[in-house]
Amino acid sequence: MNSRKRYTGLIDNYRHRLPINNKTKVISLGEGNTPLIKIRNIMSTLDKHVDIYVKYEGLNPTGSFKDRGMTMAVTKAIESDAKAIICASTGNTSASAAAYAARAGITAFVLIPDGKIAQGKLVQAMVGGAVVIQIKGNFDDGMRLVKEVADKAPVTIVNSINPFRLQGQKTAAFEIIEELGKPPDFHYLPVGNAGNITAHWIGYSECAATDSKQVTKACAYCKGDCSYIDGSSPGVRPKMVGYQASGSAPFIRGNMVDKPETIATAIRIGHPQSWDYAWIVDEESGGWFDECNDEEILAAQKMLAEREGIFCEPASAISLAGVLKDVESGKIPENSLIVCTLTGHGLKDPDTAIKQSTAPVVQVEATLEKVKSAILDNM
Ligand code: F0G
Repeated sequence: MNSRKRYTGLIDNYRHRLPINNKTKVISLGEGNTPLIKIRNIMSTLDKHVDIYVKYEGLNPTGSFKDRGMTMAVTKAIESDAKAIICASTGNTSASAAAYAARAGITAFVLIPDGKIAQGKLVQAMVGGAVVIQIKGNFDDGMRLVKEVADKAPVTIVNSINPFRLQGQKTAAFEIIEELGKPPDFHYLPVGNAGNITAHWIGYSECAATDSKQVTKACAYCKGDCSYIDGSSPGVRPKMVGYQASGSAPFIRGNMVDKPETIATAIRIGHPQSWDYAWIVDEESGGWFDECNDEEILAAQKMLAEREGIFCEPASAISLAGVLKDVESGKIPENSLIVCTLTGHGLKDPDTAIKQSTAPVVQVEATLEKVKSAILDNM
């Protein structure tokens, strides 16, 4: 029998670096261990030499990075005997919550903005058997309601304000360091609630720390006394760069945005829950926040699909759009090592992708002659 070790998910893989003990019953769908792909074709079109890798988180079990956090959040919810979980969502959290709740045999309640989530995500919540509550409001309204309800009812919140979510999500940074042999110089992420940028920073910080002094002030879990010191990249951490869609850019405006708008519905968020932590990440890492408009986002999504064969959802593409902008403006030095997180799969939002596709769809009679000429005409 083949003795290659079976991959059984990120909790098993990083047990010693997560708040888990031997008795904890792990709820997993084999999340994590996603590919880190060097985008050589796009790199070769740039005037400057930089190495760009994308971490393709769309290849997680439900198609987004949320699974990293959800395996931890649901595992810990089960450990404390929860019978139900709840979240507000722009779509991916609800898809993930539905799947992990199904796996654990508990109920998921998901609050989503009416008409503003991509089809693929809605269907995932529905088939997973979640109770889908569509609200006539946006994500921020949903988040407020979830907090109020959880105060009164026996449900565990699994949005990223649940500190176990970020503990799971920090493992993406571990995987990147293991694969590259060191942290990148710059790490680009789309920012909505700002949980994921915070989680990556926690992960990088644990790898950089060599003693148990405060690792990062941005960790709600250890509260300044981290026991998950790794020291595999002593002292070295990337600059964290967070990109937001222009119509939903509270970090760039410097204050909350009441009516966020963008085609990248996953990050259509005006009141980020991890506001304070993200500013700490910005300060500690020496990175920055910036914005792209919807056109730039869609152009980057198309470029990734056409030039590299990588299909991500619009919100994810903003990280590459940001890199292209910063390389062009001279913010990124020659020979830098850059990682972009592609947070969700393109199949989540087929409608947006089909609308901007320019690929020819040729209709012909089912004869050899017609098919042959369709091929020759399009060579
Ligand atoms: N990219 C995608 C595809 C997302 O779904 C989200 C967030 C983000 C980026 C932003 O991550 O919030 O940690 O800064 N989606 C949440 C949801 C809000 O409900 O699925 P963040």
